[in-house]
Amino acid sequence: MKAIITGVTGQDGSHLADLLLEKKYEVLGVARRCSVDTTERIKHLSSNNNFKLIEGDITDVSSVINIFKNNDNVDEVYNLAAQSHVATSFKQPALTWDITGKGCLNLLQALKDLDMNHARFYQASSSEMFGSNYDRDRQGGRYQNEKTKFMPNSPYAISKCAAHHCVRIFRDAYDFHASCGILFNHEGPRRGEEFVTQKIITWISNFKRWLNKTDSQSFPIDYTDDYFVVRGDKFPRLRLGNLDAHRDWGYAGDYVEAMWKMLQEPIADDYVICTGQTHSIRDFVNIAFRQAGIEEFKDSIVIDLDLYRPCEVDYLKGDYTKAKMQLGWEPSHDLEGLIKLMLDAKL
Ligand code: GDD
Repeated sequence: MKAIITGVTGQDGSHLADLLLEKKYEVLGVARRCSVDTTERIKHLSSNNNFKLIEGDITDVSSVINIFKNNDNVDEVYNLAAQSHVATSFKQPALTWDITGKGCLNLLQALKDLDMNHARFYQASSSEMFGSNYDRDRQGGRYQNEKTKFMPNSPYAISKCAAHHCVRIFRDAYDFHASCGILFNHEGPRRGEEFVTQKIITWISNFKRWLNKTDSQSFPIDYTDDYFVVRGDKFPRLRLGNLDAHRDWGYAGDYVEAMWKMLQEPIADDYVICTGQTHSIRDFVNIAFRQAGIEEFKDSIVIDLDLYRPCEVDYLKGDYTKAKMQLGWEPSHDLEGLIKLMLDAKL
């Protein structure tokens, strides 16, 4: 089997490459040319003969066509390339649209024009597409599943919705085997520090190192508005935005397994992938500080209004019943386990 993964240098791309290589696939990873090295997460694959990194950009139609023409025997295409940071999408909406929205259309249209709809297609859709919408269960609890209507709240989410609907149209109109995984937040040791979970975990690990280095057991810690200070040695306090938003956080390694399972189904479809549990950012902070043994510092976080988003997604809690019933998929980590995994990796 041969697969193409766009966005292979990202968290999900690297986990998916690992999984497919384990399953003896030949994997072509597509990555944009960049002046800085972005290949950290796939360095361990450089000596794997079944893995090849190729240069390409999904915003450039001719680049996409060339990749497919040179690999017209590909069995599966996973589109994981995106401008995936929601806050950035408010600052660079058109760029986000080009990559996250139109990029998906470029891939599908190229496959169609090259008569390559034999290749199964996976699109990374997102729980951000639900925005401020949710359904209610019999007890009045809020949740989102495949039937919940999208109400996107950011340029990122609008782009993901457009891509999601493109997939549906190519499936219905041109008989593509194209599926969308509506993935809720998924994290792990490979998560970038621009996302809140890894930002918190990284800060904790650096703070613990600083506490040890300054021998803070023996000396008093002073607090300024922005810093902790021990004997003149400063460490910046953790600055965060909205702590009240709720997210359904799972482990990224589990979620790429769901992507693969979707493409093994005889009929293409869309699936919500999540844990079914929701927690606030504040909960995440509390658990992480407790697990790291620095609970007494959790109230010294600085709330920075500049880190609030112009529009927030307040509440995400998925229902993965369909994925469980049809794909036999279930998450392996709850939030405590996920935080432990991330802390262990950093500490
Ligand atoms: N990044 C960040 N940094 N977020 C913060 C901070 C901060 O300092 N402080 C509070 N938050 C809040 C955000 O306002 C948001 O409510 C929540 O933490 C999570 O933010 P992110 O970790 O940036 O993730 P996201 O939920 O916006 O988006 C992620 O999940 C989506 C799936 O639902 C990304 O991975 C998306 O690409 C993905 O589609």
